[in-house]
Amino acid sequence: MLEVNFSEFFKGKNIIYFKTLDSTQSYALELISKNKPNDKTAILTYNQSKGRGQLGAKWLSEPGENVCLSVVVYPKYLNSDQQFLLSQMSALAVFKFIKEFTQADVKIKWPNDILVNEQKIAGILINNTLQGAKITSTVVGIGVNINQSVFADELPNAISLSALEGRKFDLKEMVISLYESFELFYEMLTSGNHQQIQSMYLNHLFGLNKRRSFTLANSTVIEGVIRGVQQDGRLIVEMSGAFKTFDIRELKTNL
Ligand code: BTN
Repeated sequence: MLEVNFSEFFKGKNIIYFKTLDSTQSYALELISKNKPNDKTAILTYNQSKGRGQLGAKWLSEPGENVCLSVVVYPKYLNSDQQFLLSQMSALAVFKFIKEFTQADVKIKWPNDILVNEQKIAGILINNTLQGAKITSTVVGIGVNINQSVFADELPNAISLSALEGRKFDLKEMVISLYESFELFYEMLTSGNHQQIQSMYLNHLFGLNKRRSFTLANSTVIEGVIRGVQQDGRLIVEMSGAFKTFDIRELKTNL
């Protein structure tokens, strides 16, 4: 059951808070189809029961410990072949937000996971709605592990800010910082600074120019070196002297 608490007010920002929700992403997508919320409207909960992850996976988040946020934007100025910019921009926003609270090594794992010391601290799920060659609406779903101390067995490589820093964080303050970081990078996108977004993304990309192991869709484990990312989002990996490109369904970077 949904329980809305409108008294929570985020410094005039367009953030709608729910005490519990199945998925902020599903809610935001439903909202767009019904009554088109304002640009940068965010749906927030700390208690998400059916969190959605990439490629149909679940996103598990301990009730009351973490931030689950989905932001609605209308990037009509982007063509459908520019979708990856939204992924890069969102990853940079979450990257900068995490950086503000830790001195540890923060990286973006292609396409848009955020790692600290090679452990996953945040995940991003992007749902674009296309109309012809244009992107009419986008929901950027962000799950960040903030105060969770114990993770399920199926998440052996997860970490939270609190586990990292040895203290608890105020979730409301974290939401404000995260949202402000999102606004900053979204502004970079709307003002057309695509090259800056692409080069910043590459600067913080996990495994760039390093030999790593990867798992292919057929479960084969293979070694290679990430050499970059194409504008369409395909990862460029050098394997046995040849450059190959992969999409998210075809290859996973192993940790
Ligand atoms: C992933 O790494 O697989 C992406 C996880 C994205 C999780 C967030 S939490 C807020 C939003 N609501 C959802 O149901 N999923 C995203």
